[in-house]
Amino acid sequence: MRCDEVMTTTSPHGSSAARATAANGRPWWRSAVVYQIYPRSFADSNGDGIGDLTGITSKVDYLAELGVDVVWLSPIYPSPQDDNGYDISNYQEIDPVFGTLADFDELLAALHDRGIKLVMDLVVNHTSDEHPWFIESRSSTDNPKRNWYWWRGPREGMRAGDLGAEPTNWQSFFSGSAWEFDEESREYYLHIFSRRQPDLNWENSEVRQAVYAMMRWWLDRGIDGFRMDVINMISKDPALPDGLVRSGLWGDGTPFFVGGPRLHEYLQEMHREVLADRDGQFLTVGEMPFVTVEQARLFTDPARAELDMVFQFEHVWLDRGASKWDVQPLRLRDLKATLGRWQAGLAEVGWNSLYWNNHDQPRSVSRFGDDHNYRVLSAKLLATVLHLHRGTPYVYQGDEIGMTNAPFASIDDFDDIESRNHYTAAVAAGEDPDTVLGAMRHMSRDNARTPMQWDDSPNAGFTTGTPWLPVNPNYRQINVAEAVDDPNSIFHYFRRVIALRHTDPVVAYGDFTMLIPDDELVYAYTRALDGVSLLVVANFSDTTVPADVPERGAWAASQLVLANYPVDAGADLELRPWECRVYRRMVLRRPASPARSD
Ligand code: NOJ
Repeated sequence: MRCDEVMTTTSPHGSSAARATAANGRPWWRSAVVYQIYPRSFADSNGDGIGDLTGITSKVDYLAELGVDVVWLSPIYPSPQDDNGYDISNYQEIDPVFGTLADFDELLAALHDRGIKLVMDLVVNHTSDEHPWFIESRSSTDNPKRNWYWWRGPREGMRAGDLGAEPTNWQSFFSGSAWEFDEESREYYLHIFSRRQPDLNWENSEVRQAVYAMMRWWLDRGIDGFRMDVINMISKDPALPDGLVRSGLWGDGTPFFVGGPRLHEYLQEMHREVLADRDGQFLTVGEMPFVTVEQARLFTDPARAELDMVFQFEHVWLDRGASKWDVQPLRLRDLKATLGRWQAGLAEVGWNSLYWNNHDQPRSVSRFGDDHNYRVLSAKLLATVLHLHRGTPYVYQGDEIGMTNAPFASIDDFDDIESRNHYTAAVAAGEDPDTVLGAMRHMSRDNARTPMQWDDSPNAGFTTGTPWLPVNPNYRQINVAEAVDDPNSIFHYFRRVIALRHTDPVVAYGDFTMLIPDDELVYAYTRALDGVSLLVVANFSDTTVPADVPERGAWAASQLVLANYPVDAGADLELRPWECRVYRRMVLRRPASPARSD
């Protein structure tokens, strides 16, 4: 038997994690794997070139076969789609482009029938400028909803509308000022993302109550939790101080709107108002750019009743310099130091979420692996390294078949507002257009948003129409049909990795210890629980290198659980290019020390 096929038995799809609650008293999401769907790009059922809910429903058996426990849906609510749905104009409806509430209920039922839970994207730092709340707020300075958003007059002594008259110097995440001037009322409103995404004023308790009511409405409909968009930005310093200007016109406002003074209070209130008295157990994960591990421990401490886990950003910011477009080489040592620090920091209290990518990040195999010479091996390695950490792993659609970054030829090939705004601003500031495009090819969010590659038919089987974003031309080689047919594919490897979390409590609950932190090429760690230890070793390079871990001989002689190459029994820990292995052995525990008499 090939050792890369060694595996324990597969658990029934999806439902195993849910059962764990009853069995061991731990929340079900601690042994769950989440699959993120970006609905625009997943499966189009009606030929309009945009993915939809019925398309997703047609793929639920695929998700069940993969073995995931939860689906997180990126936004499907009505939206002008300025930021692909992260600009919501009605929180309690479905955008017609994605379908109807009836389609939604059908999808939810189809997932639940297969033991898969559904988590919705909750985008409440901001709404769309077409949301009725904002339309009212904008209609006059004395409208009762004026104070639902952040409205301010011009900077003292300056004329409204002039450059520099913005109430603060904060830069928006999508380039330019974070304030938009409203000609009618001669005031500005705050938008830390696009000018069509005005920030809600959480200081106002009516805003908070409206959000909680909307969350209860979705839970009543049967959903299983929320992924909360930039939730650490909802509390702002009401003094709105200027930020530090590092270069160019605009300042850094993040110290005044990230992790703001009332954030813990709001999250505790949300938990009390929405979840505390509800039967069942829900998953809440907060997206938190800039969060530190010390803060995350507070957010995810169950005793504080705020969130179950957060998405931190430190490991996906290691390959950037001054900004995300200043692409720097990634050093494995830094990656290990960062992820190791998060593992240690949340070991006793709190919980980690684990991810390499999502709809905002480049494809993981192109960024952390080698998508030219070792695509299959490095994709399997990345799955192993991520999923064997302690925490809840997130699979982004297409990871499980090793989808890669796309070959964007010119600015016209990009759709994403962040990428396009950056290009315009950078070129206007005198940067060389080819250099700007070069960075965008590495980092643009559109890399993750090209349509899902289902088969080798036209448009990869994603749509019968014209896809809203071109399909990656490599779809003839990289697609689901091919992967499902091939027992050695990345897809089947993912199934094994996911199943391990369900079948082996060490994977879900074991302690984590980083090994050889200074090794530049090998990522190695152990997990341990109740006298059983797992060793994970992974060679992040294209040369053969030893995994020089403590007790190397004993590990080599132990049980091989998973590997991405065939391995001879008892083989030494010499790792071939992009090779990874997982070993398992019993470790003798020291006898308990006699009771002290003093
Ligand atoms: C984070 C989301 O993941 C991203 O896609 C979006 O553009 C911003 N928040 C604004 O909602």
